[in-house]
This record gives sequence, C-alpha cells and structure tokens, in this order.
Amino acid sequence: MAILEVSGVYKSFGGNLVLENVGMQAELGQVTSLIGPNGAGKSTLLNIISGFLKADSGAVRMNGREIAGYPPFKCFKAGIARTFQDSQVLPYMTGLDNVVVSSPGQRGEMEHNALFRPWVVAAEERERRAEAMAHLASLDIESKAASLSQALSYGQQKLLEFARMLNSRAQVFLLDEPMAGIHPDLIEGLSKMIRAAATEHGKAVILVEHNLKVVMDVSDYVVVVRGEVVVEGPPSEVEKDERLASAFLGFVSNAAT
Ligand SMILES: Nc1ncnc2c1ncn2[C@@H]1O[C@H](COP(=O)(O)OP(=O)(O)OP(=O)(O)O)[C@@H](O)[C@H]1O
Ligand SMILES: [Mg+2]
Repeated sequence: MAILEVSGVYKSFGGNLVLENVGMQAELGQVTSLIGPNGAGKSTLLNIISGFLKADSGAVRMNGREIAGYPPFKCFKAGIARTFQDSQVLPYMTGLDNVVVSSPGQRGEMEHNALFRPWVVAAEERERRAEAMAHLASLDIESKAASLSQALSYGQQKLLEFARMLNSRAQVFLLDEPMAGIHPDLIEGLSKMIRAAATEHGKAVILVEHNLKVVMDVSDYVVVVRGEVVVEGPPSEVEKDERLASAFLGFVSNAAT
C-alpha cells in the first residue's frame, strides 16, 4: 500500500492554473520521480504535500489519513521531510548539531528527567550524538562534524541536509532538485544515497530532478507532469514513451544546469 497518496489536486495562482487534477503515490522502499519542464508545477506539488502551500482542491493522504491543509510542522510530524531547491542548513551550528537537532526528542518527559534523572538525559544525548555521527559517516562528511555548517561547500551542505532527513525518522522524503548546483563528481555518490534512502533505510522518496539519466537510474517509478500527469510508469517504459519528449517540447529547459 502507498504510504503517501495524492489525488485530484488543483492549484492556481491568480488566474494561472498550475496543477490540474494531479495524482501520484509513493511507497516505502521506493524512489518515485517527478519530472517535467520548468514551470510544470513540480515544486508546487511538493509544497502542497509538505504543507507550504494549500491546494485549491484535492486530497493528500499519509498512512491513509487526510493531511491536506496541514501546516508544515504538522506534515513533518506526520512523517514528511523535504529539501528545498536551495540548501537549508542551520548556518551557525556545527555539522553534528545540525543533525542532532533534526531528531525528535525520545520521550515526552524530558523536563522531568532533566530535573530528577539527569543521567537519563545524558545517556540519551550521547545516543543521539552517536546516531547523528553515524549518519554523517554514512555520507562521508564525518570530518565536518565540528565545522560550522556555513563554512561547508554547497555540495557538503546538501549532504548535511540529507543527513538531517535520515536522522529525522520521517518516512517520506521530498527531494527538490538535489543535484542542482552540485559538482558533477558528487552526482554519482548522491544518486547512491538517494537509492540507499529507499532500499536500505526503507524511506518513500519523491525525487524532482532534471537530470534524466539520474532519474532513470535511481527510480522505481516515474511520473511526468506538465500541469497534469502526462505519462507515468516504470522508468524503462516512460523512457521509451513519446509523451515524455512531447511533455518537454515548447519549454525553455535549463536541464543542463
Ligand atoms: N507562489 C507563487 N505565486 C505565483 N505563481 C507561482 C508561485 N509558485 C509557483 N508559481 C508559478 O507556478 C508555475 C509552476 O511553478 P513550479 O515552481 O511549481 O514549477 P517547477 O516544475 O518546479 O519548475 P522548475 O523545474 O523550474 O523548478 C510557474 O509558472 C510559476 O511561476
Ligand atoms: Mg521547481
């Protein structure tokens, strides 16, 4: 069963209809890619799923529960984490602290423990730091644990953002153009991490990406949008479908960036 289900979503800005009856699903352990030309409505859809925008109509269900209209923090609590087209890390915190603060508190009795059982809090804190460190290590950026994240390169900040998501225990990852602006040498590694988020960590990943080779390599399922869903299916099928090319016709693409 799909953990996330979007159906019948409409969204317009002013008189401009951007999403028209859009539906898609995401499953745990799978990478579902959302592709389409510039202005097709991909980021708008991610914004709706994560609560940053409200759809005019339509449903967004997480684990079968309607979440359309939830504000971002409630979507996050429901298990949806996202990246933005620009990297979003906490610049004045170290790499390690950036990851540590992304995990939810373990127990509701934090204050009680802090006052009466401080050793419990200390043990929990050690555990959380070890876990955060393991995520940094799995992304090969453990050497940046003590650096302020503003001192990291753009590509390293993207990896740090990814470590924050892995640590957050969210079940659905929304990735908006994670490869954009990244050094070409890092693309393969980042692709592997995206794949691993699904295969090893069991997340449901929704990937918005202009690099079609990456998309076809890492996806289990591909949805092509241009205001509405144009064609969808396994990458091997979508790749051959003439509707893929026609969806991109007539648009100025910045796919090379
Ligand atoms: N907050 C907003 N107010 C008005 N128009 C908006 C807003 N957000 C997006 N749009 C418009 O909606 C359309 C879809 O934008 P969106 O950012 O979702 O496209 P996209 O598929 O993510 O494109 P890209 O590949 O360039 O990132 C565009 O025409 C855009 O100008
Ligand atoms: Mg976009």
